[in-house]
Amino acid sequence: MGSMQHRATAPVDDLERYRRTRSVLPILAASLTDEDLQAQSMAEASPGKWHLGHVSWFFETMLLEEPGYQPIDPRLGRVFNSYYEALGERIGRAERGLMTRPSRAEVMAYRAEVDRRMEARLADAARPLGALEQYLFELGLNHEQQHQELFLMDILHLMSRSPLDPAVYDEEPRSSPLEAPHGGWQAFEGGLVEIGDAGHSFAFDNERPAHRVWMEPFDLAADMVTNSEWLVFISDGGYARPDLWLSDGWATVQAQGWTAPLYWRREEDGGWTVMTLAGRRPVDPAAPVRHVSFYEADAFARWSGGRLPTEAEWEHAARSRPEAFSNLDTEAWQWTASAYAPYPGFRPTEGTAAEYNGKFMANQMVLRGGAFATAPGHARPTYRNFFYPDQRWAFTGVRLASDAD
Ligand code: AVJ
Ligand code: FE
Repeated sequence: MGSMQHRATAPVDDLERYRRTRSVLPILAASLTDEDLQAQSMAEASPGKWHLGHVSWFFETMLLEEPGYQPIDPRLGRVFNSYYEALGERIGRAERGLMTRPSRAEVMAYRAEVDRRMEARLADAARPLGALEQYLFELGLNHEQQHQELFLMDILHLMSRSPLDPAVYDEEPRSSPLEAPHGGWQAFEGGLVEIGDAGHSFAFDNERPAHRVWMEPFDLAADMVTNSEWLVFISDGGYARPDLWLSDGWATVQAQGWTAPLYWRREEDGGWTVMTLAGRRPVDPAAPVRHVSFYEADAFARWSGGRLPTEAEWEHAARSRPEAFSNLDTEAWQWTASAYAPYPGFRPTEGTAAEYNGKFMANQMVLRGGAFATAPGHARPTYRNFFYPDQRWAFTGVRLASDAD
C-alpha cells in the first residue's frame, strides 16, 4: 500500500483550508481566561493552552522539519510533544498543568510563527507538496480538528470541578441542530459486507484497508438512548445490580461510586441537572444521554434486552441507510462492542506519524459516529474513534442493536 494511500496532486485551496481550520481554536479560546487555559483537571485531560501549542508543534514537526531546518524554539518539543517516542524526551502528560511557561501570549506567538512558515511553505510554487507531505498536511488539519473537540471536552471537565458552575459559552457550541427522533428499529440482513476506507480522500491509517466481514442479521435503533430512558435505568437500580455489569465495569462502579452519568447532579428537589459548556442546566429528558462509559453503555444495553452494535454493523448501517437514523454523527460518539484493533493488513502511516494511531490498539473500545462538538466534515462512516472502557469525559452516547428475531 505505502504511498498509494496518498493523494498525488495538491488541491488549490490548501492555503484557504489551512487558515480556516487554524482559526477555530483561537475562537474557542477567546472566552477563556489565562487561568482557565492553564489548569489541568486530571491526568487524561490537557490544559487549553497545551492544545493550542501542541497542534502547532504537530505542523512544525510533521511538515516543516527537514534537514537544515531551524526550529522556532527547539525547547518547545519537550512541552508540546504528546506521545511520539521517536521525537524525543517530553514532560509527563499529568504535568502539563505545571507549564506556566510558555505563557498564553507566548503560545499564541508560537502559533502565529508556525502559521507564517506554513503559509509560506504552502504558497511556494517551486516546491509543491509531495504525496507523503500532502498526506501529512491533511493529517495536520484532521489532527487540529480532533483537538478542537478535545479542547472542549477538557474545558468542560475543568469547569465541572468548579463550585461556581461556570458557563464558558452562552450556548453550547454545536455544528448542527439536534435531530428529532425517527422511532423504531432498522433491520439489516447481514452477510458478507465490505467495511473500511477504500477511497482517495483523507482517512486515518486505522480506517484502512477496506476488507470484508461476515455479519448475522441484526437490528439497529433509529435513535440514540435518551436521558429519560437513562432515568428509568437509574430508578430500576441500574447502578446497583451487579448482574447487569461486566466484572471490570462493576468494579469501576464501586471504586468510583457511579450512580449516574458524569456531570449529572441530583438537586434537593429531586430533579437532575447536568454540567454543560453553557453552565449547569436541567437534564433534558428528550436529549440523547451523554458522558457514559463503555461499561455503562454495555450495562444499559443488557438491562434493556439488547446489546451494543459491533463497529462493522454500525458502519454497514450508516453507509447503506444514513437517512434512516437520527443524530448519526452530530450528537455523541456511540460506543460499540468492538475492541480497537488493527484491521487485517493494517499499515501505520509512514515516517514520523507512524505512532499516530496504531500503537494504541490494545485495551480500548471503538466509538462510531461523531459529536455535537466534532468539526463539520471531520467524521465519516468509516471513522474509528477510541477510548478506554471506563472513560466518560468524552462526548459519548449509546445506540442500541439487537440480534434479529
Ligand atoms: C482518537 C480522540 C483518542 O485523544 O489521543 C489527538 C485523537 N490523536 N492527537 C486522542 C488524537 C492524536 C485521539 N483520540
Ligand atoms: Fe494530538
